[in-house]
Amino acid sequence: MIRIDQLRKNYGSFRALDGIDLQVEQGQIFGLLGPNGAGKTTTVKVLSTLTRPDSGSAIVAGNSVTADPTGVRRSIGLSGQYAAVDEKLTGYENLLMVARLYGMNRHESRARAHELLREFALVDVKDKRAGAYSGGMRRRLDLASALVFRPPVVILDEPTTGLDPRGRLDTWDVISTLVGQGTTVLLTTQYLEEADQLADRIAVIDSGRVIAEGTSNELKVSLGAERIAMTLTSPDFLDDTLRILGRVIGGSARPQVDSTRQRITVPAPQGQRTLLEVLSALDHGGITVTEAALARPTLDDVFLDLTGHPASAESSSQLPSEAQVGA
Ligand SMILES: Nc1ncnc2c1ncn2[C@@H]1O[C@H](COP(=O)(O)OP(=O)(O)O)[C@@H](O)[C@H]1O
Ligand SMILES: [Mg+2]
Repeated sequence: MIRIDQLRKNYGSFRALDGIDLQVEQGQIFGLLGPNGAGKTTTVKVLSTLTRPDSGSAIVAGNSVTADPTGVRRSIGLSGQYAAVDEKLTGYENLLMVARLYGMNRHESRARAHELLREFALVDVKDKRAGAYSGGMRRRLDLASALVFRPPVVILDEPTTGLDPRGRLDTWDVISTLVGQGTTVLLTTQYLEEADQLADRIAVIDSGRVIAEGTSNELKVSLGAERIAMTLTSPDFLDDTLRILGRVIGGSARPQVDSTRQRITVPAPQGQRTLLEVLSALDHGGITVTEAALARPTLDDVFLDLTGHPASAESSSQLPSEAQVGA
């Protein structure tokens, strides 16, 4: 349903997309995962014909974004990074307006609006002005607007950025049910957990390039599954600790140490067993820790592993901790 080949886009002399290749099958949820500035929104803009690529091709539902932008627009529903609902209108009026804009007659428009309000759990607030909606409700209304005319392809740019954990979980529910209906979804996200939860396949992008592609499991296996995160009671223990980690985990472990020289992360090839062995060896060595835990890979780990540099400093690559409850 989506096929992108060697897509390039410059802003002046700045290379925003540097040869992107992607393929999304019908009915899939495809996650485009990357930090701020990776090129996610630029890719979305090309796919939705809001901007033209410099070179390369992008085909959406059989239509080329450059040769047949109208055909592309007829096949996609787009929900941008910032929800575009009219705050002065009620939820019902927002949907009605979109339906009318797409040329549905009055009867069809009303029926479709009511149907979407039900599907997106907005019936109770349908007559409230959207300006009074919570972030999650607004986001659901925006998603519903993108689906009014039942497009075969839905493109969602950072659908949960800025939502609280509850709103994020609700939005995840809505997105997974879309695909139950055969819709193809391309979503962008900065959150590994979100891609993990929703996407059948994931492409990791950085600096306008795809640096890894696969199912979430394939990506995690390539990262060495779990990690140990621990904090030493003193930086004086660091050298001995690194020696012990090398002995217990092996030379390929490549521990990461932060600037305090007290926080260490290291792959745990055998998960819990590795953690126990490490703690026991540290104990024998007289080294004390204030905390030590198993952690799943984060986006930072993906980036560090794939690129050798951390995700950009200002990017918040982890969900707020409360949001991990349901993940
Ligand atoms: N209109 C523009 N003019 C100049 N630079 C831009 C423009 N839009 C985006 N960029 C730059 O291109 C890069 C990719 O941006 P974007 O696609 O928005 O990334 P993402 O959505 O992954 O955060 C960023 O470095 C951004 O600053
Ligand atoms: Mg963006």
